[in-house]
Amino acid sequence: MFSPTGTSRKVATAVAEGCRCASHVVDATYGTPTGLTFGRESLVFMAVPVYGGKVAPTALQRCEQMTGDGTPIVLMVVYGNRAYEGALEQLAQFVSERGFVPVAAGAFVGEHSYSTSATPIAVGRPDAQDLTDARTWGKAIREKIDGLSKVEAVDVSHLKHPDNSPISMLRFMQFVMQQRVAKDGVKPLPVTDAELCRRCGKCVRLCPTGAIDVHDYLHTDAERCIKCCACVKGCPVKARTFTTPYAPILSECFDKRKSPVTLL
Ligand SMILES: Cc1cc2nc3c(=O)[nH]c(=O)nc-3n(C[C@H](O)[C@H](O)[C@H](O)COP(=O)(O)O)c2cc1C
Repeated sequence: MFSPTGTSRKVATAVAEGCRCASHVVDATYGTPTGLTFGRESLVFMAVPVYGGKVAPTALQRCEQMTGDGTPIVLMVVYGNRAYEGALEQLAQFVSERGFVPVAAGAFVGEHSYSTSATPIAVGRPDAQDLTDARTWGKAIREKIDGLSKVEAVDVSHLKHPDNSPISMLRFMQFVMQQRVAKDGVKPLPVTDAELCRRCGKCVRLCPTGAIDVHDYLHTDAERCIKCCACVKGCPVKARTFTTPYAPILSECFDKRKSPVTLL
């Protein structure tokens, strides 16, 4: 799994629990993991966040070496209540090219990385209902796997996409286009309030890409930062903030609750 703000981790854990799997967790959040070779007797669960309608690129880079041998895999993408677009198909192709067989796939909602108290987006997701759904799906996966004589791939393109109102989608797309036109080359970065910061170093430890200077927490490397907001959400004194023009429009346009969608 790759899960900077922990929502993909929660979903994957609940699904694996429902499936009654003795799990060995491989975490790609803080570096490239080893031991990514799996035989056909394993059942692999893979959960990743959606960034810009695709799988978070760092997740794929770090799992580049994963190898299966006709190994069944359960795919989960976790998105911030806007849309997961082509992420699941992209993930299915990625794992299929490496010898895995997607036997189940799901798209779940997690609190949006950009969500703040002023611009809430899917706050608290996955919530109790999502986790119950995830466990129930995990149980169904177990039943399916136990009854299988031959491992066959599901077609993830059959998974339903969430309904967004056409007006919301149009507003959002127009906004994205305006941002592209207005782009001046300066990308916003998370910043630290020097007055509030207690120099505890938690942000440095939480950053998946080592973008925060260990000797100077006020400095974030623009090249390394993936805007995952792990530092923002994990700062115990709320000294880290990320101001993005996308947060208000996401909060306005995608405030209607979306439910998980799954395929078996
Ligand atoms: C750079 C970036 C891009 C994102 N793009 C999308 C998106 O296209 N659609 C969406 O619904 N959520 C999007 N999100 C929200 C995340 O998918 C969501 O918050 C997810 O739950 C984060 O997973 P994690 O907690 O495992 O890190 C994006 C978040 C970030 C940081």
